[in-house]
Amino acid sequence: MSWRTAQSNAIKIMSNLIVPVTAPVTRRSFFSTSTKFAAGAAALSTLPIERFVHGASPGDTIKVALIGMGGRGSGAADQALSTGESVKLVAVADVHEDRMKGSINMLRNKHKDKVQVKEENMFMGFDAYKKAIALADLVILATPPGFRPMQFEEAVRQGKHVFMEKPVCVDVAGYKKVIAAAAEAKKKNLKVGVGLQRHHQAGYIETIKRIHDGQMGDITAMRAYWNGNTPWVKPRADLEKQYGRKLTELEYQMRNWYYFVWLCGDHICEQHIHNLDVINWVKRGHPVSARGNGGCETRKGPDYGEIFDHHVVEFTYEDGSVCFSQCRHQLGCWNDVSEHAIGTKGVANLGRYTITGPNAWRFQGGGKDAYQQEHDDLFDAIRNDKPYNEAVYGADSSMTSVLGRMATYSGKEITWEAAMKSEVSDTMVKGIDQVPWAEAIKLTPNSVPGSDGMYQIAIPGKTDVLKARKAA
Ligand SMILES: NC(=O)c1ccc[n+]([C@@H]2O[C@H](COP(=O)([O-])OP(=O)(O)OC[C@H]3O[C@@H](n4cnc5c(N)ncnc54)[C@H](O)[C@@H]3O)[C@@H](O)[C@H]2O)c1
Repeated sequence: MSWRTAQSNAIKIMSNLIVPVTAPVTRRSFFSTSTKFAAGAAALSTLPIERFVHGASPGDTIKVALIGMGGRGSGAADQALSTGESVKLVAVADVHEDRMKGSINMLRNKHKDKVQVKEENMFMGFDAYKKAIALADLVILATPPGFRPMQFEEAVRQGKHVFMEKPVCVDVAGYKKVIAAAAEAKKKNLKVGVGLQRHHQAGYIETIKRIHDGQMGDITAMRAYWNGNTPWVKPRADLEKQYGRKLTELEYQMRNWYYFVWLCGDHICEQHIHNLDVINWVKRGHPVSARGNGGCETRKGPDYGEIFDHHVVEFTYEDGSVCFSQCRHQLGCWNDVSEHAIGTKGVANLGRYTITGPNAWRFQGGGKDAYQQEHDDLFDAIRNDKPYNEAVYGADSSMTSVLGRMATYSGKEITWEAAMKSEVSDTMVKGIDQVPWAEAIKLTPNSVPGSDGMYQIAIPGKTDVLKARKAA
């Protein structure tokens, strides 16, 4: 099968439930899937926002819902609950019971009085996000990023403020959805934060302010790196041992999501976005084209799915300046996570907050932890009705990463314009949030292993990222 199945094929295979399940998924009474609560939630959904879109008074309690209760979602909820006294967590949603329990216990231990999530407001399943969103003033979206566009669109539809983790999309279809929802959010005066926390980190803010003030002259070239090691992997055998049964292909990919494009976007999207976002911030825009090389050289095996272990990309911006970017997951190599700008009057190491040249400068320190600061800023905007919408630059930076991936997977130069017109743009499993969990996990993802257990990886020079492909 091709590395990414065409949309029409995805629709066809949706009804072809071929993966056997050896045991039903446990759904204990701890979690609510009942429509009665959904109806109640829907009825509540219009109430809080009427207060908050017109500015909350400082004492008003902001009700938060957390969707995606893994490491970052739990951290983001902790930070949201640390923004002041008048905030509480009222609803949560996840697809995995163990993740939900771990997260809610941690949050209860840390914020006893602010975690007021009734049992019936803990929602499970792919459609759980809609029910949790309905109960909140502000929603935190921290699932794997493939789900972000549809969940952001729904939050805006329901008129809720949003904090969403990066990346905000993993394909062109998702990018367009986020851009449209961002415009809608603006119309509705909703505040939107995106977890590109460097924008709230004092050292970055000060350094980039100086660049924008012209202290380095014109920026002609940039460099960006996320060269490191594999962050984590969940081998199928370990998972099946842990859960005592075979997992469906979709269940397995959900647990080991990092290695599948429809969920993660590849590590150029999941991690390197932070560096590419800084470069876009410096350039005040996104690149117009990308070309590069990539592949999977050292990290091989079925549990590493379909993503590359390295991408090297040249991004060209509208003014002709170029960003040379690298991201790599390979052991025993030189590692670096940083961004650099080269100007006609100086050079900046952005992550070290230094500028060399005639206007040499070094940040003297200060500022809060950026993960906390981004929540403080968002809550301040909600309470004091300040303009706040990070969705467009968040989407542009996410799409910059997607553009880089399109260039390395294809081995071709890909323009932003061509990417916007591409036919192969939607990697989401169709209808996944339209059916109950037990049905959804039998759906076939767009990429499945061959008889040797290996997934097909893009082949530069052969993989066409712009035209719809026929299923093999
Ligand atoms: N800003 C940062 O520095 C930073 C750091 C880490 C992670 N992140 C981002 O946060 C996001 C989550 O990463 P993580 O490390 O927390 O992953 P994780 O695997 O720990 O958590 C993801 C959670 O989402 C749940 N989930 C999956 N699909 C869902 C769905 N459709 N509906 C509801 N719940 C669902 C999972 O069960 C899990 O609990 C990613 O986009 C990642 O890139 C950002």
